[in-house]
Amino acid sequence: MDQAENNKPRKNGLTRGVTEALAANMRQGWADTERHDLEPIPQAAHTARRRAALSARYPGELLVVPSGTPKVRANDTDYPFRPSSEYAHLTGDQSERAVLVLEPTADGHREAAYLQPRSDRDNGEFWLDNHGELWDGRRNSLTENERLLGLECRDLRTLDEALAAATGPVRVLRGHDAGVEAALAGRTGAERDEEFRETLAELRLVKDEFEIAELRFACEATARGFEDVMKVLATAGPTSERLIEGTFFVRARVEGNHVGYSTIAAAGPHATIMHWVRNDGQARPGELLLLDAGVETRNLYTADLTRTVPVNGTFSPLQRKIYDAVYAAQEAGIAAVKPGAAYRDFHHAAQRVLAEHLVAWGLLGDLTADEAFARGLHRRWTLAGTGHMLGLDVHDCAEARTSTYVDGTLEAGMVLTVEPGLYFQQEDLTVPEEYRGIGVRIEDDILVTESGNENLSAGLPRRADEVEAWLARLRG
Ligand code: GLY
Ligand code: MN
Ligand code: MN
Repeated sequence: MDQAENNKPRKNGLTRGVTEALAANMRQGWADTERHDLEPIPQAAHTARRRAALSARYPGELLVVPSGTPKVRANDTDYPFRPSSEYAHLTGDQSERAVLVLEPTADGHREAAYLQPRSDRDNGEFWLDNHGELWDGRRNSLTENERLLGLECRDLRTLDEALAAATGPVRVLRGHDAGVEAALAGRTGAERDEEFRETLAELRLVKDEFEIAELRFACEATARGFEDVMKVLATAGPTSERLIEGTFFVRARVEGNHVGYSTIAAAGPHATIMHWVRNDGQARPGELLLLDAGVETRNLYTADLTRTVPVNGTFSPLQRKIYDAVYAAQEAGIAAVKPGAAYRDFHHAAQRVLAEHLVAWGLLGDLTADEAFARGLHRRWTLAGTGHMLGLDVHDCAEARTSTYVDGTLEAGMVLTVEPGLYFQQEDLTVPEEYRGIGVRIEDDILVTESGNENLSAGLPRRADEVEAWLARLRG
């Protein structure tokens, strides 16, 4: 941006244009704050390995991965920005408008991140542009970013020129930066770009040590957030779902970056709605509260955990019967998570247990569990798949090819949720009245290990009696 552009008075701005005297005054008298003490970010070696794997996959091709542009909410107000998971995974950086470029060379690729440099002091950008450093805070200099990311960093304003000069077939991650896509118009193909998106998702299927540590921490912080909520729940009388959501959010912001997805604080019949995020009801004694929430770490990895608890601290006999069935299904699901198992095995194992309970309770007439399972009739009350991959996204790697994901095989280093549930809608006339309006889900985050699995969220009580003892302890 040049001086004239920065000097334009804004529509409905209270200040007039900047006088020459003020411009000259603002150009001087500022300390040099360049940082020379920076060390590479802890995941720099991992991001380098991830980029090397991508480079090996596409020799001779120009690869372009944008972080994305902020979405405008109104005039100069944006929605909170989060970089594309693909860009964050390959760089460890969280800048907006940034673009990772892998330019083909004779023996691989030359890698560079194109980033916005520090906002300029000479042309007034630093205080006159509404994203300048006196408005949004200081951005790193390119040199600082090189040191942090372990990656060549270039000025974003030179990107179009660099893309025009680069040769070779091009692949771009679409959907994040319309400007980048326009600069590459006519040089990319929808099918090839879709294949590129699949590859970027598949690169994230097996987590490295850094990612596993992040997910472990996300689960631990989430467990602390659940404890915060249980303490609020212990106050006498109804508790609003909004207070529950807000209480968890405080923990997410203090220990992490944000929540990894909209918190589901679903009490009473709301628990039968899979993604209840309106959270505008009350949690009343005698009801169950289904809390599905996850802290996203500062490096953007999220937990995805659910506990269903009695608001008054004790399950009724029917609530407990339903809870125990879901618990048994989850146990069967978790037991099926091991290297070499088909991905679908844990889902089948858990759903089968749920079908057996539904048959035993007489909800499926004269059918045997085999018959009910074969016809899929249990799904009236189980509704969803039993889990999904977890990582930078709550539904991680969702763009991977079916053959490598749901039709694939579990490998050590994968992390997935196991989250069976039973949901009896309030208006379901096919179940006895006392079942109606009860929803139970139990969700844990499971790491596939060389010898089987590890429950990363084992710190949260799960069995019905453990849940009751936990609530009693927090009630003091
Ligand atoms: N929290 C969304 C899910 O469990 O998949
Ligand atoms: Mn989930
Ligand atoms: Mn969940």
